[in-house]
This record gives sequence, structure tokens and C-alpha cells, in this order.
Amino acid sequence: MSSQPSNRVLIFDTTLRDGEQSPGATLTSAEKLEIARQLARLGVDIIEAGFPAASPDDLAAVQRIAREVGTPDGPVITGLARAREHDIRVCWEGVKDAAKPRIHTFLGISDYHLDFITKTTKQEALKIIRDAVTLAKSLCDDVEFSPMDAGRADPAFLVEVCAAAVECGATTLNIPDTVGYVMPQEWYELMHSLIHETPGAGPDSGVVWSVHCHDDLGLATANTLAGVMAGARQVEVTINGIGERAGNTSLEEVVMSLATRPQYYHLTTGINTREITKTSRMVSNYTGMPVQPNKAIVGANAFAHESGIHQDGMLKNAQTFEIMTPDTVGLNESRLVLGKHSGRHALKARLLELGYPVEGEQLNHVFARFKALADAKKVVTDADLEALVADETNKPQEIFKLVDCQITCGTMGMPTATLKVRDPDGVEHIHAAVGTGPVDAAFRAIDSIVKVPNTLVEYAVHAVTAGIDALGEVTVRISSVDDKRTFGGYGAEPDIVVASIKAYMAAINRMLAAQGYGDVKPEGEAATVGISGD
Ligand code: KIV
Ligand code: ZN
Repeated sequence: MSSQPSNRVLIFDTTLRDGEQSPGATLTSAEKLEIARQLARLGVDIIEAGFPAASPDDLAAVQRIAREVGTPDGPVITGLARAREHDIRVCWEGVKDAAKPRIHTFLGISDYHLDFITKTTKQEALKIIRDAVTLAKSLCDDVEFSPMDAGRADPAFLVEVCAAAVECGATTLNIPDTVGYVMPQEWYELMHSLIHETPGAGPDSGVVWSVHCHDDLGLATANTLAGVMAGARQVEVTINGIGERAGNTSLEEVVMSLATRPQYYHLTTGINTREITKTSRMVSNYTGMPVQPNKAIVGANAFAHESGIHQDGMLKNAQTFEIMTPDTVGLNESRLVLGKHSGRHALKARLLELGYPVEGEQLNHVFARFKALADAKKVVTDADLEALVADETNKPQEIFKLVDCQITCGTMGMPTATLKVRDPDGVEHIHAAVGTGPVDAAFRAIDSIVKVPNTLVEYAVHAVTAGIDALGEVTVRISSVDDKRTFGGYGAEPDIVVASIKAYMAAINRMLAAQGYGDVKPEGEAATVGISGD
């Protein structure tokens, strides 16, 4: 049983599991490993590395994280498993090489889940839970059980379920508001009564109570903090609040609430808050999910003061309009690091310090682009470097590859894009298209060459740093016309149209890879040249 001090809140990060379930947020296993390493630097207590039974790739990614990040002084590594023998055994295969492994198993227990999904009675569900937790406990000492959709479940049954899970060996009881339905006061009362009324799981039992909230009504952080006030000492969260539908509770919001109001909560976490901004950027870049500018803690405007009254107050005393400093979350850690005379070694060392072990060919590419940027921009910050690395390392397999592009636009004529793209057989295709703007023209030219129907569902561009010479970051999400799956792409370039083209090509390449690209080829074997427009 846990020896966790009663004022310490454990941070359970599920960015790589629940977060990765966000539409379009699929990560490669190399990206997952880098995010896991960064989560360890951030100081999370538990990493939910994936859902090992979902696919052999998921299992392999969890195994790699368990071996490489789950060191004795690193975080607990867990994986999710349905309450089924196969899932639990595969989950154990995933996490068993970590120094501190955990199995996290769950079953839906609201009437909606019992009647429509598992189609079981309450008594049958209790037996499934007992069997699952008993099996998990026979493999692993550290077992977490989650009664899914607890927020809409019968409270008396919930107590029975939690008592059964603890009796069979669960050491953490995680209570999910799976559909983001509950209100903060209601959640406080539910958690308080569960903690005090569940046989064998009271405040002194050593069982860790946990909360897992979704943000469908924008209440995930409030509900999570209400759970903590009621006695929960583990919170399940994701970076930037990414996750199914409206997302999960955001790590940075909960951690900074506890850190900013110590006299109110009297609670601590093991998080190094100065790593928050960097972690947020890495997750956003790798998942292709931009952070909304007004997002608490990590949004671009979170520390910006626009109005005259605010600026005046800030100059007199920052506390007039600021409840925490940007330094606390690592926002100003971005220093001028390297100039145009800096060499490869200096770049490599700085990237390593930033958490990016870039080597070989990839380093050569980043170095060449760093030199070009330093020439154009003079001042290259850590944020610029992070964007360049994300652009270089976050590329899917380049099934179709951009060779060259030329764009014309302005008030005098129709925006036109001419693109040269290499297909999987090495054949080059040139196509020119006109559009309502240069980005539209470029995307039309790509569509004419690649010929894979898709719908553009999101396009976002933002400057990595302040200043007119800033690097532009573009994230694009497309959905396939056939199965409506979404795919993200990312590009960073001083020229935002080029960044847009790269992001769109990356999203298309991800979609093609998922569809088995061998089936999709441009028509004809020879090079093509074409022009299109409305
Ligand atoms: O939201 C949920 O109920 C979950 C569980 C599997 C913990 O993600
Ligand atoms: Zn969830």
C-alpha cells in the first residue's frame, strides 16, 4: 500500500493514452518515447503510456517507454486494459520491464454501459471486476481500477464496485467522469462519500483515490480540484488538456492552481513547473493540435497584457495583474542561444539540453535550417529551435515529397501556386493552380497531383516568437472522405505559405500511410504537368 504523504497529490499523466485518443492526434512510437522522456523531466509520478492490447504498435511503444523511461528513479509506467484476461496479460507484457509497473484496468458501470455495451447485470459486472483485478494483482503489485462512467452510475453500486476492487487487490481507485457530466459540488460530495463509505478504502487504508475528468462542459479542472478537496490524492490529466471530444483535465491548470494557491489547498506535487511550457509545445507540435491562444497557463496570450490600464499596472508592480510569473512555467527560459557562427556541436548540445537527442542525418538537416534561419533572422531562440526540430523529426514517411514550389499573390491577379511533387515511384509532377488565396491555390495544386479526396477540417498558423521575422508554425487537420478519420500535419518555416504546404503534405502522407499507400498512385507512370483553377 502507498506511503504517499497526505499533502502530496500524485500526477498521473494520460497524454499518451487518453490524449492520443483525440481525433487526429496519432503519435509515432518515436514521438511517444520523446514525450514520455519529457514527462519524466516534468516530474509526473505516473505515465499511462498507452493501451497495449489495442495493436502490436501500441504494445511495442509501451514496452519501449517502460524500458527506457521507467527507471528506478523515474515515474511509474502503466498501460490501460479492459477488464478482460487478454487485455490484462498484454498490458503486463507492456509494462513489466519498468522498475515500477502498474496495470490499470476498467469496466463501464453506469446503466448505460451495463445495458448497452457489456449487456450484463450488476452482479455479473461485479464478478468481471473481481476476476480482472485478481488476475492483474497476480501479475503486478500495483493495480489501478476505474469504474468507467462513475459520474452517471448508481452511487450505491459504485461503493460496491470500489469495495470489491480493493478486496481483490486494487491499490488505486480512479473515479472517472467519462462524459464530463458532473458539477463540481456534486463531484466533491460523491468523492467525499466514496472515500469515507467504501469498506476497506477509507482515508487511512493506504488506498489512493484518484479523479479522471473530461471537459465536455468546461468543468474538468474545477471537478478535478473538487475531487482533490474531497480527499483524492491522484489526478489523471493530460498536457494541454487534449483527449477524447472536449478533452481531459489539463495538467498545467491543476498543477498551477495547487502551486498558486498553497494557502488554500495546502497540497504539493512533484512537478517542476518550469518544464510546463516546453512540454506543452512538444505535445502540440507532435500531435498537430494547436493550443488556443487564450488557453490558461500555456496559451500564447496567457501572460500578454494588452490594455493600457493593465500595462501601466504591470510596469508599476507585476502582481497588479499577474497571479503567477511567466518564469514559473518556463515561458522565459527561451534564451538567445546560438548565432550564425555557432557550429554543429553547439547546436547538438543545446538541443540535447532542450530534450531533443538529434543526431546524424537529422542533425545535418536541422543544422542547415538553423544556419539559414540565423542568417535571415539573426536572433534564434529556443522556441525557434524546438519548432525546427518538430518540423524535421515529426515528419511522417514522405510518400509524396515536395520538391519545389513557387507562389504568386497580391492585389493584381489571381493567387497562383506551382508545385513540383515527387510520387512514391520517384516520378516528378508539376501542377499549377489558382485559388482564393495562396494557401488555397497551393492545396489545390497538391490535391491535383496526389488525387486523394479529403476535407480540410482545421488550419492554424501562428508565429513562434514575437517580431516580423518570426518563424511561422502551421498545423493542419484533414479528414478522409471514406472513413472520416482525421490526420494532422505540422510545418515550420519563415515563409508561412511554405509552412502550410509542408503541413498539408504531412497530413496527406499520414492519411495515405494509414490507408496503405500502395493503392494510391497518381494516374499514369510518366511525369505530369497540369494547370487547374475555378
Ligand atoms: O474516461 C474514462 O472513463 C477513461 C477510463 C478508461 C479511465 O478514460
Ligand atoms: Zn478518459
